[in-house]
Amino acid sequence: MIRESIVTTRNADRSVHIAPMGVHVIDEALVIAPFKPSATLENLLREPRACINYPDDVRVYAGCLTDRREWPVCAAERIDGVRLQDCLAHAEVEVLRIEDDELRPRFHCCVVHEASHAPFHGFNRAQGAVIELAILVSRLGRLPREKVEREIEYLQIAVDKTAGAREWEAWEWLMAKVDSWRAEFEETAP
Ligand SMILES: Cc1cc2nc3c(=O)[nH]c(=O)nc-3n(C[C@H](O)[C@H](O)[C@H](O)COP(=O)(O)O)c2cc1C
Repeated sequence: MIRESIVTTRNADRSVHIAPMGVHVIDEALVIAPFKPSATLENLLREPRACINYPDDVRVYAGCLTDRREWPVCAAERIDGVRLQDCLAHAEVEVLRIEDDELRPRFHCCVVHEASHAPFHGFNRAQGAVIELAILVSRLGRLPREKVEREIEYLQIAVDKTAGAREWEAWEWLMAKVDSWRAEFEETAP
């Protein structure tokens, strides 16, 4: 099972790095699998610990892909790290072992602390749609245009029917990125 999460690590200068990552749940372990190259990968190699955050504000996911990474953070409780201040829950993890790979090393982690901070208010289709669009945006250069357009058309239905203000804002940030990609596409078309 994969949980779409926000992973917070520290950069070499001790500033925080915030990145959406699909965290694999394998029995009791959580596995973070960053593609090479990535800041999260470098940070985990230097300091083998992280916080895995579960926010319901999907603007954090959309923001990280649209140069809006300034989300409030606070100190973690058990590890020398930081977590998102506004999240429903978070886990603090330490790396137990690294499975190296040319493309995508896997960091097998154990949870040393978990805490809940706010109640879960149920599933919202627009939140799921924003996360799906964020994943598409993170792969724009690598996916066929027809696939991207087809998926956006489908995801838009859930947004139109169920989004609140935060989901709309996140959707619009991501769609601005899609629009720039479309424009580039038109420029390079024969
Ligand atoms: C929901 C979601 C899940 C993602 N999962 C991963 C992942 O598991 N591994 C990865 O390398 N990038 C993943 N990405 C893309 C990264 O968040 C994005 O490319 C990131 O900026 C690169 O990592 P860095 O910021 O640590 O350099 C995901 C993006 C989204 C929106």
